[in-house]
Amino acid sequence: MSDDLVERLRAAGCVFAEDEAAALRAAFSGAPLEAAVARRVAGVPLEQVLGFAEIDGTRIDVGDGVFVPRARAFAIVDAVAGMEPTVAVDLGCGAGTLAALLAQRWPAARVVGTDIDEQALASARRTASRYGFEVRHGSWWDALPAELRGRVDLAVAYLPHVPSDEVERIHPDFRAHEPRRSVDGGPDGLDHWRAVIETAAEWLAPRGVFATLLAPEQVAAARAAAPRWHLDTVPADDDVVLLASPPGR
Ligand SMILES: C[S@@+](CC[C@H](N)C(=O)[O-])C[C@H]1O[C@@H](n2cnc3c(N)ncnc32)[C@H](O)[C@@H]1O
Repeated sequence: MSDDLVERLRAAGCVFAEDEAAALRAAFSGAPLEAAVARRVAGVPLEQVLGFAEIDGTRIDVGDGVFVPRARAFAIVDAVAGMEPTVAVDLGCGAGTLAALLAQRWPAARVVGTDIDEQALASARRTASRYGFEVRHGSWWDALPAELRGRVDLAVAYLPHVPSDEVERIHPDFRAHEPRRSVDGGPDGLDHWRAVIETAAEWLAPRGVFATLLAPEQVAAARAAAPRWHLDTVPADDDVVLLASPPGR
């Protein structure tokens, strides 16, 4: 039997039309369902239409214009699963994605999520109300309270790391509805890595770790930008998790 909603979504280019139709019907009915379908057909990402993303049982609030959480970023937290941080931070937390994982994995830790984008932080605050973490506004480390200087055991960041001239290759739905600064990492994609690593040693505890996700071809240049740091890599499907420990250990 044909399903009109599935057919409309498929015609609009939705690859997982059946799944999307089920998710929309579970969230909306009547006129709100029709409005939601119209937004999706117009190219608004499903997560922004629903108002949330659910990945591996973690529910992240996603408002309009907010970076949509990607499952690939979870590899950053998986790569540090053996740690036991007392203070853990998610720099550039967007909707609160990795901070939600940190808070679930280490319920006794102080977890802080930061971002420069107030729209993202509105979503992060709603995510935080479910998982219990602090939310702060500001640029990278500068957003953290001063008392955490030198005390951060674990910092994770899914940094904007797409080279500027590759941003055009991002799926048009995301490109049109996520802020460019959430993905654009400058000419080689590493502008934010350089900015974060520059002052990371001031904020990390002596045995602290900074973990991020890059493309494999970015690792050599990332190493060159942090010559005194100890850098480990963990393969994660098409990406690499980079684990950085401060110089002088
Ligand atoms: C790739 S998104 C990741 C968001 C979130 N961690 C996630 O996994 O869904 C990068 C995030 O970095 C934030 N960002 C960009 N520049 C920043 C800066 N200077 N300081 C703090 N956050 C920044 C963006 O607003 C965006 O939310």
